[in-house]
Amino acid sequence: MTQRRMMEELSWEDFNKLPLEERAPYFLQSSGRPYHCVIAQQFDREALDKLCDLATRIRKIAKSKIGMDFLSNLMRNKRAMLYFTQPSTRTFLSFFSACQILGFSPAEVRDPSISSEMKGETKEDTIRTFSSFFDLIIMRTPAQGFAEQMAWMLSKTDRPVPIINAGSGKDQHPTQALLDIYTLERSFEHRGGIDGKTVLFCGDLARGRTVRSLSGLLLQYKNVKQIFAAPDHLQIGQDILDRLTANGVEFKVTNDFKGQIKNADAVYMTRIQDEWDTNPGESSKGYKHEDYYFTGDDLKILSPKGIIMHPLPRRLEISTDCDDDPRAVYWRQERNGMWIRAALIATIFCRDQEITNYYMLNNR
Ligand code: CP
Repeated sequence: MTQRRMMEELSWEDFNKLPLEERAPYFLQSSGRPYHCVIAQQFDREALDKLCDLATRIRKIAKSKIGMDFLSNLMRNKRAMLYFTQPSTRTFLSFFSACQILGFSPAEVRDPSISSEMKGETKEDTIRTFSSFFDLIIMRTPAQGFAEQMAWMLSKTDRPVPIINAGSGKDQHPTQALLDIYTLERSFEHRGGIDGKTVLFCGDLARGRTVRSLSGLLLQYKNVKQIFAAPDHLQIGQDILDRLTANGVEFKVTNDFKGQIKNADAVYMTRIQDEWDTNPGESSKGYKHEDYYFTGDDLKILSPKGIIMHPLPRRLEISTDCDDDPRAVYWRQERNGMWIRAALIATIFCRDQEITNYYMLNNR
C-alpha cells in the first residue's frame, strides 16, 4: 500500500494515538528510505549505518574542488524552504550548508511576523504554500508534534514534499540525534563502535529534545547503558524510561553527575532550557550549578578514551578550559551535523547510490 493510501485511512487524531514505533513506517518510502524525517523512531540500525557511511563519503568527496562540483550538480534543480520559527544557529546553518553542498537553492522564513501568518493565515496553509514552491521543507517550531502532523497532512495532498523536523517543541530533534550518532560512531570507530558503551546525559533532561531523540536512537545499538544525571525537577521523562525498560536497556537515574563521570564513555551535557519556564526562574530552583558543570578537573576523572559532547549552544555546562582537550568533541559534533544532514537529504532524494558510486571510483 502506498504511503498516501495508508495516510488516507486514518484521521490525524487516530494516527497520533499510535505508539511512535507504529507511526514511524508511515514516513518511509517503499524502498525503506526516509521520505519525511520527523521522529527518531523511524531509523533502524541498518538505516543509521547507511547514513553514517554516506555522511563520511560526502565529507571525503567534498575535500576536493572536483568533488564539490560533483555534489553541487546532484540537485541543482531543487529548492528547499527553511522554516524556522524558533531560534537556531547551527541547525539552521548546517541545513543551509548541506543544501548548498548538494546543489539545492535554500530559501528561508525565520520571522513569521513578516509572512502572511500576520494576516491570519494558519500555519497549515503556510506549509501548503511552501509545498507549492519548494521540493523540501525543513522546519523548526515550538509546537510539539507539528512537523509530524504537517508531514501527515502533506502526504494526503496532490503535492506532497518531504518534511524534515529540525526540532519540534520539547519532544523531538531527530536530525540532532543523527549527528550525535555520527559523532559517537566516529569517536568510537577504533573501539568497537557504539555497541557496549555507556552514555551519561546531564542537565535539563526534562525539556531537552536532543536527549529524548538520542536516547531513542541508542536503542538500535547493543548493550548501550544510559545514565541520566539531573536534579529531580529536570529529570528525564517517564515515557523515555518506560521505553528503555520495554527494550531491556540498562539505565540509571541519579542526581550525582560527578559520581558517574568515571563510568561514562560519552558525557552528553545539555543546557537548562529556561525558555520553557512557565514562571521566570523556576528551573533554577533547587539547581546547584556546580553539581552539573563539567570542569577542567573532571577531565582527570573522565576515561582517557571517553568523549564530552554537547548539542550546543553552551551556556555554563562545560568550562572553556576543556575545549582544547582531544576528548571534547562538541565542535566536531556541530560540523558533523552538516555532513549527516547532507546524507539525509541525498537519501530522501534517492541520490545516495550515485554518491557511493562516485566515492568508490574516485576516493577509495
Ligand atoms: N543543537 C541545536 O539545535 O542548536 P541550534 O539551536 O543553534 O540550532
